[in-house]
Amino acid sequence: MKYILCAAAACCLLLGCSTGTVDRKPKSLSSYDPEAKALVARMTLEEKIGQMTQPEQGPVMASPGDMQKYFIGSVLSGGDSDPVEGNTLEAWTDLYDRVQAEAVKTRLGIPVLYGVDAVHGHSNVLGAVIFPHNIALGCTRDPGLVEKINRITAEEVRATGIQWTFSPCVTVPQDIRWGRTYEGFSEDPDLVATLGEAAVRGLQGDLGDPLSVLACAKHFVGDGGTAAGTTARPGAPAGKDARLWLDQGDVQVDEATLRRVHLPGYVAAIRAGVGSIMPSYSSWNGVKCSGSHRLLTEILKQELGFEGFLISDYNAIAQIKPGDYKTSVEISINAGMDMAMEPTHYRAFFDTLRELVEEGRVPVARIDDAVTRILRVKFAMGLMDKGRSQLADRNLHQVFGSDAHRAVAREAVRKSLVVLKNENRALPIPKQVARIHVAGRSADDIGNQCGGWTIRWQGQGGRVTPGGTTVLAAIRSAVSPETLVTFSPDGAGAEGATIAVAVIGEKPYAEGVGDRDNLGLDLEDRATVANLKKAGIPVVTLVISGRPMVLGDVADRSDALLAAFLPGTEGKGITDVLFGDHKPTGKLSFSWPRANGQLPLNIHTPEERYDPLFPYGYGLTW
Ligand code: BGC
Ligand code: BGC
Repeated sequence: MKYILCAAAACCLLLGCSTGTVDRKPKSLSSYDPEAKALVARMTLEEKIGQMTQPEQGPVMASPGDMQKYFIGSVLSGGDSDPVEGNTLEAWTDLYDRVQAEAVKTRLGIPVLYGVDAVHGHSNVLGAVIFPHNIALGCTRDPGLVEKINRITAEEVRATGIQWTFSPCVTVPQDIRWGRTYEGFSEDPDLVATLGEAAVRGLQGDLGDPLSVLACAKHFVGDGGTAAGTTARPGAPAGKDARLWLDQGDVQVDEATLRRVHLPGYVAAIRAGVGSIMPSYSSWNGVKCSGSHRLLTEILKQELGFEGFLISDYNAIAQIKPGDYKTSVEISINAGMDMAMEPTHYRAFFDTLRELVEEGRVPVARIDDAVTRILRVKFAMGLMDKGRSQLADRNLHQVFGSDAHRAVAREAVRKSLVVLKNENRALPIPKQVARIHVAGRSADDIGNQCGGWTIRWQGQGGRVTPGGTTVLAAIRSAVSPETLVTFSPDGAGAEGATIAVAVIGEKPYAEGVGDRDNLGLDLEDRATVANLKKAGIPVVTLVISGRPMVLGDVADRSDALLAAFLPGTEGKGITDVLFGDHKPTGKLSFSWPRANGQLPLNIHTPEERYDPLFPYGYGLTW
């Protein structure tokens, strides 16, 4: 059997079927109910609760016996969770195999579902291809490409054995000051729905395919619609954090608005057969989504007919009623939560939920429903097939981070690049010019190109991962052999060059850490462009950032302006356009403001107040 699987995978590699699209309508998850319910009927309460419990790999694997003692049904690697042996493809695969081997030692031997945030490629693993973040993919307007990218991501994730990614994020950010803006495809619900659906198709394909992974649409619902708070964050130590915050906040809109702006991505993901959905940390009119029966059960499960399972966000359940964990668990599970992401407190979750059931505060029927939903997915994925090895298929290592995968990422980079300004025919740059002066702190920085959720939770500037090409390296390899390329981070010494290219923007961040009330460019970046301007040569400015930035004088000082957002590892996609090998086609997925005072500004802003520097959908070509 193992041999047959390997042969099928190898065949796929040869034929390149990983990049094909899947047209088949997925089989409904509830069609696996006979098997799932029969298994539930054989389970003890502890075995059932174990299926609902998701610890972090670090803590649970550091406690020998816990996988069996708690009948653990799922494990995650969080944003900063590397294998103990270090961050290598081998170590990740070994870790997965080790976790799986522990899981199947239980009485019923139910395999574990291993989840990770592969949100732009298998983005925790060194050497994986890092694709542009969703904000950039939104600029491509290309669902076929988004599907292909996610198919490749599925394959790289599967190369480590892992079968589940907490992706796609179908958030619809309405205020770009939010630190998670870049995780969203667009401020426009329709575009989010189209690309979110494509991403689910790409990741899941046919769920039973050993090259597919389970997708997770997140964060349900309205995470991108929170109202800006300017006081201290609730629960923050006194005097701390008294700044603008949007992350995990409260969405203060009526139900019609919530449905119109924030729901379409989920309707589309469910249409594509998404098997899991993550409720949001945020609240809707003061009620935590993770504890809302109206949202989780009435709307999502009953009205929209979602047949998969709900996974809570990282430690989110405890936030429902701070200081009263037991009531928090009761509220959440009764609201419809099916699996709990309890990275370190998994024992407390397990014991608390068992008590709640024994005391009659959580009905057994609710537990059975949750476990049936989880097992449906495991059956649909072939995890329960007796003849099928659940260990990683290491044949896939040969395609991990491959040139073929990088070529698709490069295509995505060039298709997402948006030309915002092009005066004095600055672009495209002839490859034979005498000298190009490159400047800016992001010109030679793969880490800044990749942004947050890359190797580390917060991302990291510099050589964050091997492979890939910085913008500077891409320029060096694109120009003619006679062209001199000089570089200074601050733009000094540009005099005498034919043209200058500045690469500026934001440093990596993730989640609330990236909430900012001032989207102005840093002084350092403005000084770089000012220095180049002083040299009296045309200046091309490339902005690498998680969202549109307030450009100020940089817009005027630049002859040409381009937005790359967070392009990932393949910098050659940028030079493909810069030097005219490909025409620019990218269109803004978010409105680009003139000033901080205009924010929030988006397509839902009343017309009389909608006065962006570049409107939604803007993008030049030649
Ligand atoms: C984030 C999720 C993520 C989870 C697991 C949370 O903090 O909100 O998007 O999937 O952590 O890393
Ligand atoms: C974890 C992330 C998680 C975050 C939540 C980090 O320590 O690595 O996975 O999303 O905490 O706050």
